[in-house]
Amino acid sequence: MNKNIFALAILLIFLAGCSDKHGSPDLSKLSLDLEAGKAVVQDSCAICHGMDGKGVAGNIPNLAAQIETYLLKAVQGYDHGKRVDSSGKVMNVAEGLSHQQLRNAVGYYASLPPVVNQASKVKTEYSYYERGKALSKPCAACHGADGNTTVAGVPRLAGQHPQYIIKAVKAYHDGTRTMPSMHAKLDGLAPADIENIAIYYALNAPRSPASKAANSHEGAQFISSCVRCHGPSGSGDDLSVPNLAGQNVKYLNTVIKSYRDNVRDHKVMHQALAGLKDSEINMVATYFATEPPVQTSFAPPETINSLVQKCDLCHSLGSTNPDMLTPKLSGQNRAYLINAMTTYRDGDRGNSAMHSISSTMLFDATIEGLAEHYSSQEAK
Ligand code: HEC
Ligand code: HEC
Ligand code: HEC
Ligand code: HEC
Repeated sequence: MNKNIFALAILLIFLAGCSDKHGSPDLSKLSLDLEAGKAVVQDSCAICHGMDGKGVAGNIPNLAAQIETYLLKAVQGYDHGKRVDSSGKVMNVAEGLSHQQLRNAVGYYASLPPVVNQASKVKTEYSYYERGKALSKPCAACHGADGNTTVAGVPRLAGQHPQYIIKAVKAYHDGTRTMPSMHAKLDGLAPADIENIAIYYALNAPRSPASKAANSHEGAQFISSCVRCHGPSGSGDDLSVPNLAGQNVKYLNTVIKSYRDNVRDHKVMHQALAGLKDSEINMVATYFATEPPVQTSFAPPETINSLVQKCDLCHSLGSTNPDMLTPKLSGQNRAYLINAMTTYRDGDRGNSAMHSISSTMLFDATIEGLAEHYSSQEAK
């Protein structure tokens, strides 16, 4: 695997060298003719980036007043295949132009005043928890307002591992799990929405079910294999394995049987339950349902305000450090910012500085929050 990646890297470096048709001159060393630049922009760029440097659609970046040396490096990146265009090779347009034409077009855009955007006056910080709370309103009728359900047969989500909740929703989406008809609302949710809902529930304290039967511990004889994965007393630190302690007893009963009978498709769980009789499953369900619930050990992702302070350490540099040319982010288009961050995180847009910081963007919700922060700032 690693060997292959290494071989591929060598090959790409080699190909990049070969396809470098014009050599790679430093575009910023070429003289600038703004009038000629305006003409190139009119012919080749304005259809997407506008004459005023404002992207005509959300996924097209604003170029007006952007750091000039950064823009020059960026167009050359597309030209030399160093940068993958997340919108599908539309920037191939640069290949048909001479270096002088590109230099002039970029210089023209950089010389324009910043775009006028609708900077939001009220600066409320993006909060995973508050987003999740708002988005979970339609779920409250069954799962309870805070995820502590009061409806028999409905699973408790409060305190549950968020990775498991996300995984479960994905399974409903892709059909691995049969979607209960009342879950239709889940269909319209974006990945970032689902993450926010999962984080909201995870951070709420789980409560024991209201009518608490005494734990007869009869089920204890059947659970030695379960606790290997689900943790002692049915709560553990493996974020992909659901906590069972204090779960709704009717739900446990139904779901354990559906794994056993292969109605809910999961190989591991099917094997673990093979051979258990209905009466034994009742005992196991009662056992876990009456154990005191434990909140997930999951730590929420870093807040947007705290992350932004780190971003600004580099992104306020502009062109002051030629080895670390950083674009302005304020007032940039939301959808473009989301595309850019996602491609850094997923490895399609190579840049070591942005790669290392993108380890803080494991959640799509974090990327959404950062994009919302920067796009709602006044363009400078
Ligand atoms: C068909 C639409 C289209 C045309 C025409 C086009 N662009 Fe782009 N441009 C895009 C899109 C979409 C992106 C973002 C691609 C990505 O996600 O990497 C982009 C990105 C860029 C970037 C990188 C900006 C950044 O913030 O990193 C520069 C610079 C740029 N274009 C300059 C130009 C210039 C100069 C021209 C004319 C010679 C031009 N573009 C023509 C659609 C277009
Ligand atoms: C009308 C009742 C109802 C509503 C509304 C509802 N659910 Fe559910 N939910 C259920 C039932 C019943 C199950 C168990 C289904 C099964 O066995 O697969 C369930 C299961 C789940 C699970 C799997 C939990 C586990 O432990 O495996 C998740 C996650 C979930 N729901 C999230 C949501 C979210 C998010 C919403 C709101 C967008 C929502 N549900 C709305 C009734 C509901
Ligand atoms: C090898 C690891 C493993 C073992 C052993 C195991 N489980 Fe699981 N269990 C899982 C995983 C992983 C899931 C999540 C499956 C999914 O995504 O549908 C799960 C899901 C469940 C669920 C669904 C919870 C919910 O909220 O939807 C129940 C109930 C459950 N297990 C009970 C048991 C019982 C009872 C035993 C012992 C007889 C057991 N498990 C043994 C790994 C295990
Ligand atoms: C260590 C320095 C550094 C830090 C910290 C940093 N960046 Fe960057 N960022 C860069 C550099 C350098 C580039 C230009 C990379 C390139 O040419 O592709 C960049 C590019 C970007 C772009 C692409 C913009 C465009 O116009 O295409 C986005 C979006 C971005 N950063 C967002 C962020 C966010 C959000 C954070 C904080 C979570 C952050 N960056 C933290 C150095 C940094």
